[in-house]
Amino acid sequence: MNHTAQSTKPIRIIQITDFHLLADPRRTMMGINTEQSFLAVLEHAWRNHGGNALFLLTGDLVQDTSIATYERLRDRLEMLSAPCYCLPGNHDDPEMIRQHLAEGNIHYHSQILLDGWQIICLDSTIPGDPCGYLTPNQLSVLETKLAGQPGRHALVCLHHSPLDTGSDWLDTMKLSNAKEFFAIIDRFPRVKGIVYGHIHQVMDVQYRGLRLLSCPSTCFQFKPKSKDFALDQMPQGYRWLDLHPNGEITTEVIRLDFIPKGLDMGSNGY
Ligand SMILES: [Fe+2]
Repeated sequence: MNHTAQSTKPIRIIQITDFHLLADPRRTMMGINTEQSFLAVLEHAWRNHGGNALFLLTGDLVQDTSIATYERLRDRLEMLSAPCYCLPGNHDDPEMIRQHLAEGNIHYHSQILLDGWQIICLDSTIPGDPCGYLTPNQLSVLETKLAGQPGRHALVCLHHSPLDTGSDWLDTMKLSNAKEFFAIIDRFPRVKGIVYGHIHQVMDVQYRGLRLLSCPSTCFQFKPKSKDFALDQMPQGYRWLDLHPNGEITTEVIRLDFIPKGLDMGSNGY
């Protein structure tokens, strides 16, 4: 997929992640209506930062893996006059995304080529398992795509965190073969950033010369540095990123100014 942009202007990306949409949009999870919190974030992002933006959806798009849930999400995203690029999380079914979500302005590709940049989207999911893993095929996609675009800066996106977060329970579900992943990334200094979801909290760290970034979920947030599962009383949000022609990334996390109605802080897992 190719997009053109003014070479002097940055490319605007909006990352939204971990919607956990339910089959019945009236139902709640952790006490909140994930449909309503997703729509509130989408509208805020579109209205305040969405001009000429490309939306990047970094997995756990649904909690209930059904055709109806994906088709409802597709109908919501079709109303945006913006390209939307998806990748799957551990609660998703990649084949259902391919068949029931990706059409019109909604895409499911391993690579997006933009003016001066390439964005690589990987599938780090293991069927039936919350942990992350990049298969030999996905590692090969990463290497081949990077090798194929020597003139572009690169942003690599996946669902699982390749780094520890400091929360023991979450770190059992990180990318288990991060060593192989970084062995490829290290060979391509043109990779400027890695973007991921899954951890329902913000990370922004420099690691091996590049920037690793995650953002809040559109629904409930996980408490940072927590040994066991714990929710955080923080509002839902998203991240905008500007990819500059010189390879620089500027970015900011935006949170809504309210916590989703009904959030049950006593929830003990999901
Ligand atoms: Fe999630």
